[in-house]
Amino acid sequence: MSHEHWSKFWEQGYITTFGSSLKNNYSGSLKSFWQEQFSLLADGSRILDVATGNGAIAVLAADYSLELRKGFSVYGADASTISAGVTESNSPARSAVQFLSETPCEELPFEDDYFALVTSQYGVEYSNLERSAKEIYRILKPGGSFQAVIHHADSNLLKSSRSELEIYRYVLDTAQVYPVLKKYIEHYQGKADQLRQVGAQLNHGINSLRQQFGTMPLAREVQADISALARKIKTGDSKTLFIEIDSRAAELVAARSRLQDMVAAAVSDPAQFEGIFRAAGFEGVTMSELNNEQGLIGWLLGAKVPSKRDDQ
Ligand SMILES: C[S@@+](CC[C@H](N)C(=O)[O-])C[C@H]1O[C@@H](n2cnc3c(N)ncnc32)[C@H](O)[C@@H]1O
Repeated sequence: MSHEHWSKFWEQGYITTFGSSLKNNYSGSLKSFWQEQFSLLADGSRILDVATGNGAIAVLAADYSLELRKGFSVYGADASTISAGVTESNSPARSAVQFLSETPCEELPFEDDYFALVTSQYGVEYSNLERSAKEIYRILKPGGSFQAVIHHADSNLLKSSRSELEIYRYVLDTAQVYPVLKKYIEHYQGKADQLRQVGAQLNHGINSLRQQFGTMPLAREVQADISALARKIKTGDSKTLFIEIDSRAAELVAARSRLQDMVAAAVSDPAQFEGIFRAAGFEGVTMSELNNEQGLIGWLLGAKVPSKRDDQ
């Protein structure tokens, strides 16, 4: 599976998957939850954050270790390309993390019994679970633990993601707003009747977007962006404008792919999820709903490797 749409996101320098709306890493009770997990570890422990993105949880672990002189070795791995250009403040912690790009959770390049803790924040559920559960089990030490925050199908985040997918479908597939805008530019210097026809098609697309999804921030952003591009027709040259329109359409396609991944990854049946981890050998597997200041934000999965493995 290509992870290009994620690499493109991380390239923009965000520290978490929430982009500009969470510029300084996870905070509040979510940060406290992770710090509690780190506090259970012996000094010098090894920690791996899988599907780390630009390393949010790995950086929290390294920061905790530096502050409390715990001497942890922290790793962060992701199937996409992790970006070095993160502009958040915590750079000493970031440089303490060993990052591995193009490293999916199904195939982790570590020896058996290597880590005391493996973490995942909105990550492992994107992978092939049967394979990654076995792989995480293999690289954890006996007595080691896997802790994950998993997307919940009924969270507000998932509800709004499903609505946003409707907007992307409308703009990219139904109204095909970007190709119509390009057609409008092509006809701009041409025959008035053709221009009128394409202009009407463009207006219809934008008006329907407003009528159907008007109150949603994403719909407003797209409308504003299309209007701004259309205004450039009078001043800009069409070649540059075409490049700009194509790149904007590509951004929307990538954003849609990320949302599609999220919706497909979200969990509605915790029993099935727990079963996969039990089958991989984990014990004490629990999944509970996680709420914070924003309401329901996910599932909390905890799982332990027995202190004496069956296969030993
Ligand atoms: C929603 S983001 C979460 C990133 C980060 N944990 C955070 O909270 O900011 C999901 C991440 O999972 C990664 N991913 C998807 N499939 C994966 C796989 N099979 N193995 C490892 N990472 C994967 C994506 O590249 C993306 O970076």
